[in-house]
Amino acid sequence: MNALANKHILLGVTGGIAAYKAPELVRRLRDAGADVRVVLTDAAAAFVTPLTLQAVSGRPVHQALLSAEAESGMGHIELARWADLILIAPATADFMARLAHGFADDLLAACCRASRAPLAIAPAMNAGMWENAATQRNLRQLVDDAVRVFGPASGSQACGEVGEGRMLEPLELVALCAAQFGAGALAGRRVVVSAGPTFEDIDPVRFIGNRSSGRMGYAIAQAAREAGAEVTLVTGPVALADPSGVAVQRVRSALQMRDAVLSAVATADVYVGTAAVADYRPAAPAGRKIKKDRDALSVELIRNPDILSEVAALQRRPFTVGFAAETDDVLAYARRKLDDKRLDLIAANTVGAGLGFETDDNALTLLWPGGQRELARASKAALARALIAEIAERLHARG
Ligand code: PMT
Repeated sequence: MNALANKHILLGVTGGIAAYKAPELVRRLRDAGADVRVVLTDAAAAFVTPLTLQAVSGRPVHQALLSAEAESGMGHIELARWADLILIAPATADFMARLAHGFADDLLAACCRASRAPLAIAPAMNAGMWENAATQRNLRQLVDDAVRVFGPASGSQACGEVGEGRMLEPLELVALCAAQFGAGALAGRRVVVSAGPTFEDIDPVRFIGNRSSGRMGYAIAQAAREAGAEVTLVTGPVALADPSGVAVQRVRSALQMRDAVLSAVATADVYVGTAAVADYRPAAPAGRKIKKDRDALSVELIRNPDILSEVAALQRRPFTVGFAAETDDVLAYARRKLDDKRLDLIAANTVGAGLGFETDDNALTLLWPGGQRELARASKAALARALIAEIAERLHARG
């Protein structure tokens, strides 16, 4: 059954341009089976009318904290008790500040204070406002107060800037709301994700590495967790915070990653190989720092095992997903990898300066035997959710 069926969602809409997406969000939540009531702040009413939200929710829209009508009907206490989940979308920088500081001076803030239901926010604002130190301070406070934070995404914004601060799309928000009720698309499944680079030591101070930042793999681990899976993330050396609720195993070299992945996938339903694993390693790493006493230096390299192929060849193999990072002929090489490694799915991306590696955005083509799907340029978090949704669908179809 749909996780949102008959769930009471109190949608708070605050005053930002992304409020224009609120009617679509209400519609999508209702399509998923939720019962939706809307609380609109005064500023939000300048962007979207109560009448529109009333029409799509099929319920009166609530605006005033102090009104005789509200107190005899659905005042802030009743609304707070009614809600199974409060979602503020969009959540402006101002509303985040008021929430972080415990204000209860309008209906929406009072509902948030009075309710024992989980509270989620979908921030939406100009990139500069999002990066601002006060906003980030308020965000940390809200996370400490157990407020769930959905997004934001990055990309082009209504103000003309490009950066982080876009509200997630309605369908992504619906998926995240569903996951709050513990029955996401991957509930009960075990997922192993590899991420980041591997470092292959030449001597005690030098190594061969690559430009993978780990962001794509970490986003996939987070998305799988949000979809209800039990997730193990095997990560090479990166500078990222652990995704919440995910078991993290840190490794350095391809050989270490292979051991960690093979032991984790023994009981897994899905393996996603996002790591940029070094294809070669020095044959004989020096025990001491190599001195620059020669004009030329050769380091003999030997092949590393192919972890993805080994997982796909297991007798009890998980649903096996690879990545293909290419600079040219991306789709042809990706399809060859899909076939040669006998994968269930491969995500192809173009890599190069400012592409794929190290960036917050990416674009993917998903290929499987007999089909393909484009995932247009978006934040790695949004792409990860779309990839996880595709994996879940194929896994369920397989039975
Ligand atoms: O980390 P980010 O900065 O966010 O960048 C993301 C990314 C570009 C690293 C990611 O999107 C990506 O493309 N990862 C795969 C990188 C890669 O090594 O691609 P490949 O085409 O060389 O390898 C194909 C597949 O085989 C990959 O799934 C890889 O994990 C796997 N492989 C490769 C070699 C090896 N020895 N063992 C493997 O398992």
